[in-house]
Amino acid sequence: MPAPDDLPAPASPARPGDAFQPARKSAGDPVRTFHPRKAVLGERRADALTRLWPRYGFSVHDPELGLPPTGPDGTLDAEHLFGRRAPLVLEIGSGMGDATAAMAAADPDRDYLAVEVHLPGIAHLLTLVEDAGLTNVRVVHGDALELARTALAPGSLDAVHVFFPDPWPKARHHKRRIISPERVALLRSRLRLGGTLHCATDWEPYAEQMLAVVGADPGLTNPSEGYAPRPAHRPVTRFESRGLADGRPSRDIIATRAA
Ligand SMILES: C[S@@+](CC[C@H](N)C(=O)[O-])C[C@H]1O[C@@H](n2cnc3c(N)ncnc32)[C@H](O)[C@@H]1O
Repeated sequence: MPAPDDLPAPASPARPGDAFQPARKSAGDPVRTFHPRKAVLGERRADALTRLWPRYGFSVHDPELGLPPTGPDGTLDAEHLFGRRAPLVLEIGSGMGDATAAMAAADPDRDYLAVEVHLPGIAHLLTLVEDAGLTNVRVVHGDALELARTALAPGSLDAVHVFFPDPWPKARHHKRRIISPERVALLRSRLRLGGTLHCATDWEPYAEQMLAVVGADPGLTNPSEGYAPRPAHRPVTRFESRGLADGRPSRDIIATRAA
């Protein structure tokens, strides 16, 4: 028998975030709209992930992290997921989740799918969901566009929120902007008739692009015909507060699915 000192060191236990690989490229849209990042979690967030992920989380693409329940047609069974039938909101890029948690708390009659690729944000939102006792939020790891393309039925959403998406300011990165004609057409197709696409940004050139894309989409109408007055129900998000501190006002674009 080897002496204790000769024994190989035990493998260090996997940390909770290790199971999460950076979100992959989507087969349907090989251009990522996000920065793939591997992140190290602090103790509280690692603990939140271990305890709360099995209850509130699912992955867009990784069966080992849990996939969403699906119905006979292979799309998300939201009634099973939330235990009730309620209008469904898709929040794309929930960031650290503060605005998502605040909106969901103020809007208990709708259910929220918060999709993010950034692990610390996911873990932070899990702590907010637990602290506030929210039952109408599920936290999703992965590419929201892939989720929409592969797992959300046409007409299944009441609203899509895209708050302060990465502005990708360099011209060679504009193709990564999530608000583009093709991506908006996909998101619009997942909205019910009368459902809303709500975008906000503090990056003026992107705001102009958002207005143009929404205005050109054949199935969306923009009742404000330009920027919408800031709705009281949208909390100030983390990114927004940074923009405001730097003197960049926010623009809201709220379009409705008409066809
Ligand atoms: C600039 S941050 C804004 C976060 C938050 N909405 C806020 O206002 O504080 C944009 C976020 O969108 C996420 N994101 C970008 N593309 C995404 C996608 N296709 N699916 C999921 N998350 C995405 C990024 O990881 C990033 O955290």
